[in-house]
Amino acid sequence: MNLEVDKDRLISEIEELSLISDAEAPAVTRIVFTPTDLRARAWCLARCKKVGLMVRQDAIGNIFARWNGQDPTAAAVATGSHIDAIPNAGKYDGVVGVLAGLEAIRALRQSGFSPKRSIELILFTSEEPTRFGIGCLGSRLLSGNLAAEAAKKLMDKDGASIEEVRHAAGFQRELETVKLPAGHYEAFVELHIEQGPLLEQKQIPLGIVSKIAAPSSFRLFIEGAGGHAGGVLMPDRRDALCAASELILGIEHEAKSSGSTDTVATVGICEVFPGAVNSIPSRVHLSVDIRDTDLHRRDSLISAVDASCQAIAAKRGVNILQELVNADAPGDCAANIVETLSESCKKHGLTFLSMVSRAYHDSLFMSRIAPAGMLFIPCRNGYSHRPDEYASPEDIARGTLVLAETLRSLAG
Ligand code: GLV
Ligand code: MN
Ligand code: MN
Repeated sequence: MNLEVDKDRLISEIEELSLISDAEAPAVTRIVFTPTDLRARAWCLARCKKVGLMVRQDAIGNIFARWNGQDPTAAAVATGSHIDAIPNAGKYDGVVGVLAGLEAIRALRQSGFSPKRSIELILFTSEEPTRFGIGCLGSRLLSGNLAAEAAKKLMDKDGASIEEVRHAAGFQRELETVKLPAGHYEAFVELHIEQGPLLEQKQIPLGIVSKIAAPSSFRLFIEGAGGHAGGVLMPDRRDALCAASELILGIEHEAKSSGSTDTVATVGICEVFPGAVNSIPSRVHLSVDIRDTDLHRRDSLISAVDASCQAIAAKRGVNILQELVNADAPGDCAANIVETLSESCKKHGLTFLSMVSRAYHDSLFMSRIAPAGMLFIPCRNGYSHRPDEYASPEDIARGTLVLAETLRSLAG
């Protein structure tokens, strides 16, 4: 049974989906439950149905497209990723995992393979944190890592709750129905661009992930005192942006001196109020992202930031309020999936690198309820989350072939 991936079809689908975007090409912006995201979902649903897959959607909008196996009652083997994209993103992050998953299923069907276990393609809702502040909304709810009650409290920046937004998008059932039990899936495998430069630098076509770094994020609300930029003399100021600046550089310093290059910290949002050139900033909101492969080191950095907040607040006479969004443990990829992925690479004469994922993925949460693994393909210069993100058709096709081979082994 020869497996043949239709590279041209897959690349033209990636291109077509990238045009459903709120940003001008080549940039892609697709924020969850916007009209654009809903159009992209409809486009994917139509594609899945065309292949003859049985489609269901849950209350948070996760899409499940199933190819029934010979034993439809056996736990399924799943693959998939996300199609939402942060503002001004590229066309490959997430999308490769979804459309290559679909192409892998088509290739398996065309090869005459008849799986014992069902094979399911999953499109997870809102892997990106853009709208509701927390990433992997769909896979967190599905795996029970986010309780429905907690999810209902999430709001977007315009004050719309997740309940309002998902109901308006047509998802009416209770969020409590999203959670799936451990054992529901036999295995989960996600194909993704590396989002880092190692594979390209080492000229190795594939990466097999052993571990996913532990992500965390929190918000800091700094409150000082506003006033006239001319009238308030320097000794009398309690400038919230100056306090925020000291804090941002402190976070950078702490991350750089953690003792490991696996520690990374980013302040990606800084909102200044009132935002006038001649007005002293009275309030600042920062959003901070801290990750590490080592949970203890990641948590030590969070504690160090906490200590900096207290010291800077006392020194500058400002109040700093912290709000934790998430602090997740790292995820280990399952030995049997890593093994199956390596066997699939070997079968096709492809070399691979064993690697850590520094980005988080839906696989992190799937790994809490199923044996999970990830396959990486190179992306040019390691660029991701920017419009010039690029993965070559050859690399995408190789990843798809190994994904198909792996699904074939796992589904039996
Ligand atoms: C996922 O997009 C991440 O930020 O790691
Ligand atoms: Mn991303
Ligand atoms: Mn992604």
